[in-house]
Order: sequence, then structure tokens, then C-alpha cells
Amino acid sequence: MSLSNAAVRDIETVIHPYTNLDSFRETGPMIIERGEGIYVFDNGGNKYIEGLSGLWCTSLGYNEQELIDAATEQMRQIPFTHTFGGKSHERAAEAAERLKAIAPHAASKVLFCGSGSEANDQQVKLVWYYNNALGRPNKKKIISRQRGYHGVTVASGSLTGLPANHRDFDLPIAGMLHTDCPHYYRYAEPGETEDEFTTRLAKNLEDMIIREDPDTVAAFIAEPIMGAGGVVIPPAGYFEKIQAVLKKYDIYFIADEVICGFGRTGEMFGSQSFNMKPDSISVAKALSSAYFPIAAVTVGEEMYQAMIDESKKIGTFGHGFTYTAHPVGAAVAAKTLEIYEKRNIVGHVRSLAPRFEGHVERLADHPLVGHARAKGLIGAIELVADKSDKRSFDLKAGIGAAVVAAAQRHGLILRALAGDIVAFCPPLIIAAEQIDDMFSAVTKALDEVEAHVKKEGLRAA
Ligand SMILES: Cc1ncc(COP(=O)(O)O)c(C=O)c1O
Repeated sequence: MSLSNAAVRDIETVIHPYTNLDSFRETGPMIIERGEGIYVFDNGGNKYIEGLSGLWCTSLGYNEQELIDAATEQMRQIPFTHTFGGKSHERAAEAAERLKAIAPHAASKVLFCGSGSEANDQQVKLVWYYNNALGRPNKKKIISRQRGYHGVTVASGSLTGLPANHRDFDLPIAGMLHTDCPHYYRYAEPGETEDEFTTRLAKNLEDMIIREDPDTVAAFIAEPIMGAGGVVIPPAGYFEKIQAVLKKYDIYFIADEVICGFGRTGEMFGSQSFNMKPDSISVAKALSSAYFPIAAVTVGEEMYQAMIDESKKIGTFGHGFTYTAHPVGAAVAAKTLEIYEKRNIVGHVRSLAPRFEGHVERLADHPLVGHARAKGLIGAIELVADKSDKRSFDLKAGIGAAVVAAAQRHGLILRALAGDIVAFCPPLIIAAEQIDDMFSAVTKALDEVEAHVKKEGLRAA
């Protein structure tokens, strides 16, 4: 295959995240040039539905004029001013007020940053700071879950529970523990009901806390629906049982709303879809519909008072990024949150959810699909070699990647996650007929890959 000039320039200059850097030198990049609504166009002029909203983030699609105007106006007014040492700008409070007003807990203040990883890094630091302020210097360990995804910085990458994020990066760091993933389809024991499964997981969590010593366990972090770990939707009752354990041992509960936040699950936050009562949330991505890198953590009053106490003692709150509450990011975030409210984005998602969920659930009948799951406008199919015993394909056969490649030939961009899981997460502005188009492409892709699997005999155990 001959590569274009643009592809060669890219190969020789850019390091690509989450890419096999070796095979990439042969295949080269797919270069996206422009976007419109839920569609993006590559540099060959081909049009695609962005079936994963980029990286689960472009909730308002690719040419939202109000966001472009908000960014442009702010750039003209003042492109940068910071929030260190008591300086500020009006967009910071505007974005914070809007976020506080919709947060799924009693948020007192907002600490902005640039990315989901930074947000979760901040969570870790704040929890440590808080427990020092409270005179509990040993209460520092953080529990996350296997297959959870919380980012890639040293602390957030340690919270992440996926092997590729740890291996040979010398992660996780000490004091970061991983408990069970609530994926009933994969991890239930034979004959175990959902109720028994969630009871067992809560007990395992409690056993871990007791084993570690509850006085050393500070916080628990969880995505309402795990995204990168395979769009894992927890069974009913899971978070209730987990939260009872956290409460018993005075463990701070952080909801990582980086994917689920702002309407994705059919509520403003995933926490509300799963009866989660967090002490704080991390948000990023759809906070600005990804038009500008901005993220945040919300801080409750108790945490805030502890931060004031530490500031008094030390003389400063010794944390902050150059781009904390960047004015352009804050302007875009404030406008994004205004749009969600005035266009009733949650209502739109709710009205489309049955159609989207129905399409995903019907895929369960396909010979390649072992499990299909969806909630709101997020979902996934898990591809298996044998539906009866859930046996996976040899990962080297690249069946998930083959489905993604076939979908792309039919004008739909998707992503394959570990374990041959194909994820769906379109922009929230998608219309009913566009959902139909999306799944028509998925079905064609599955049929083509099924023909290939049969022809090559790839089901052999
Ligand atoms: C749930 C969750 N948390 C955190 C992150 C990290 O965000 P970022 O890539 O902006 O650092 C992600 C990214 O996909 C995510 O899905």
C-alpha cells in the first residue's frame, strides 16, 4: 500500500497514543479533515458517522456554532489569564456555577484542570491532603476496580485497572488497590444470580478493606458505566451494596463521570442512573463537548474546609496548573452546559434511548455476538467464538478490529476495546434515522466478519 505524503509526514513526526507503534509504520494514519454534525470527513473526502464521539467526548457534534463563537469571543477578549494567587476571570465562576448547579452531590466549589487524567490525579491529591488535614495520616490507600479506566498519569494510571496501562510503565504505584469488575456476563460464577454476584463483589470489597486495615483506606473511585474497560454496565443493586461498605468504613466515594457525565446515560450524570451518592465527581470530555481541553473535580464543603485549614497551616494551597480554569476552556464549558440545559439534552437522550438500546440488544442474535448491552446512548457488543460457553476468539485473530475496519468501510467509525468488545457512543445530538444508519453499518460489518470467520475456520477451539 502506498502512503500519501501527509501520512509519511505523520509517521516520521508524531507518536500516536494507544497505537501499535511498530505496525503503524506500515499502515499510517487516518487523517480526519473536517466535521459536520455527527459526521467527520477524512482527507480523501470520505464521510463517516463518528460512532464513538471521537473519544466518548464530542457530545454536541462537530460544528456547534455557539461553542465556536464562545471560544472565539473569549480569545478576542483575553486569550489567557490565570487563577493563581487570587487572580481570576468571569468565565471561571460562570462555568463553576453551572457545574455546581447540576452536580449529583452537594458541591461547594470546583477545581478545574485540563484533562480527565488530571482530574483524577487531583482527586488522589485532595484525598491525601484532606486526611492529613483531619489528622489521619495513615488513611491514604485508594481502591479502584479491575478494568476501570481513570487516565494515564502516574496516579490516575495507577487507578486504571487495565494491564496495558501498567505493564512496563512500573505501575501501579504503592497504595492503589483494585477490586472486582462488575461484569456479570464475564465474571459471574456458574449458576450465580445477579443479586448473588453483587453481594459477592461487595463482600470481596469489604474483605479487602479489612485485610488492608480500614484506617489505611481513604477512597474508592468508580465510573458509573466502565467505558474503556468494555462498556461494563453494573447489575442492579451493585452500587447500593458497594456504597454500604464504603459508608461503614468512612471511605470517600469518587464518581468518575468523565464518560457518563452530561446526559450520556439518560440522566445528567451516570451517578443518577445507578443510585450513586458520591462525595465528589471528576468531569472532562463532554464538559466542553471536547472543543477545548478542560476538566474539573467538584469539592464538597467538608473537603473545602479541610483545604482552608491546610492553607492556613502551610500558607498556600500548593497545587495548580498554568491552565487551571483556562479562560477559553471555561467559556466553552459554560456555553456547553448552557446548551445542555436550554436544548434539554437529557430529554433528547431519553427519547432516543429505547431506539438505540433496541438496536444494540437485537445484535445479540448475531452469531458473533456473545453479549450486547446499552444504556442511554452508550453501548457495546462483546464478540465471542462460541456463544454457548462464551469462549473468546484468539485475540491475535483481531476480530474486534476486523469489525471496526468493516464498519469504517461502511461509513461508521467505532472502536474495539480489549477482549473483542466493540463500543458505541455517538454524539448526543444524533437523530433517530442516524441511529438506524449507524446500526445498519454495524450489521453489514458483522455479517462480513462472520463470513470471514467461517471461511478461515477461526472458531476452532
Ligand atoms: C472514565 C474516564 N476517566 C478518565 C479518563 C482520562 O481522561 P483524559 O484522556 O482526558 O486524560 C478517561 C478517558 O477516556 C475516561 O474514560
